Amino acid sequence: MHDSKIPRTNIDELTRLNESRPVKVVAVTGGKGGVGKTTISTNLAISIASTGRDVMLVDADLGLANVDVVLGLHTRFHLGHVISGECRLEDAIVTGPHGLQIVPAASGVKRMANLTLAEHAGLIRAFSDLYHRVDVLVIDTAAGLHDSVVTFTQAAHHVLVVVCDEPASITDAYALIKVLSREHGVQRFQILANQTRRHGEGPELFNKIQRVCDRFLNVSLEFAGSVPFDDYLRRAVQRQTAVVEAYPGSISSVALKNLAMKADKWSVPQGARGHLEFFVERMVGARIAPTTVLQ
Ligand SMILES: Nc1ncnc2c1ncn2[C@@H]1O[C@H](COP(=O)(O)OP(=O)(O)OP(=O)(O)O)[C@@H](O)[C@H]1O
Ligand SMILES: [Mg+2]
Repeated sequence: MHDSKIPRTNIDELTRLNESRPVKVVAVTGGKGGVGKTTISTNLAISIASTGRDVMLVDADLGLANVDVVLGLHTRFHLGHVISGECRLEDAIVTGPHGLQIVPAASGVKRMANLTLAEHAGLIRAFSDLYHRVDVLVIDTAAGLHDSVVTFTQAAHHVLVVVCDEPASITDAYALIKVLSREHGVQRFQILANQTRRHGEGPELFNKIQRVCDRFLNVSLEFAGSVPFDDYLRRAVQRQTAVVEAYPGSISSVALKNLAMKADKWSVPQGARGHLEFFVERMVGARIAPTTVLQ
């Protein structure tokens, strides 16, 4: 347990330090299963961590875990233990490539997919009590429109919607954007085209989604880029490593590193937005010290 190893005074100092450090929170979502949310969030988090930022990756896929499987990590605790009170959030963190801090999800625990709103809120607040240094928090959400997806997405600053050029993925991404915007006040979305197979496919896919959103919804969409379909990515998954580590020169790795550079420039909102959100105390801190805001 960290408490027994780190003297109280140091914890207080670290807590104070963190309070003045705003955290950028990116939720990776997509509506449909299997579009590449875990692949994108894992490689995005590793790529940002490789630039020297302190990054945390949370596997919030509360039904079936997979970040730990994708990275071949052995974990003792997971989010399920945090919620049941068996361990604290910091005890569940495992370290991945480039010092990436990973919070694994519960594997196959049914109750985790049906958390109460109070339990979701408790989980989000637990992040505020962490004394780990974090610049960027990346959240890999579940497929579909579970309560957990809504809560984590609403609590994030940036919502990255992963879409593939197939009707079911487009329909599900649109349904997700519609529900999040109409019922939960999420208005800004970054669209990432994954598994593209030809030049220009990503922007075309983005235009398709933007046209229908412009017509029926009051949202603002941005094109975050394209990640091509890449066999090296599949090979990396089989080796239980991230493609940006195993095959850094592959086409998907280059695209994922570009995405990381873009995401690193996304701003952190100053001040709370009036609903449950991650690190809200640090945003209040950021208002006092605006020079510390990450650009
Ligand atoms: N750009 C890509 N090129 C080739 N294969 C890819 C690409 N992106 C994802 N995949 C493959 O697609 C499959 C699904 O990816 P992933 O597990 O990341 O999706 P997901 O959206 O997280 O799925 P789930 O909804 O089940 O959590 C994996 O086998 C992954 O290796
Ligand atoms: Mg996944």
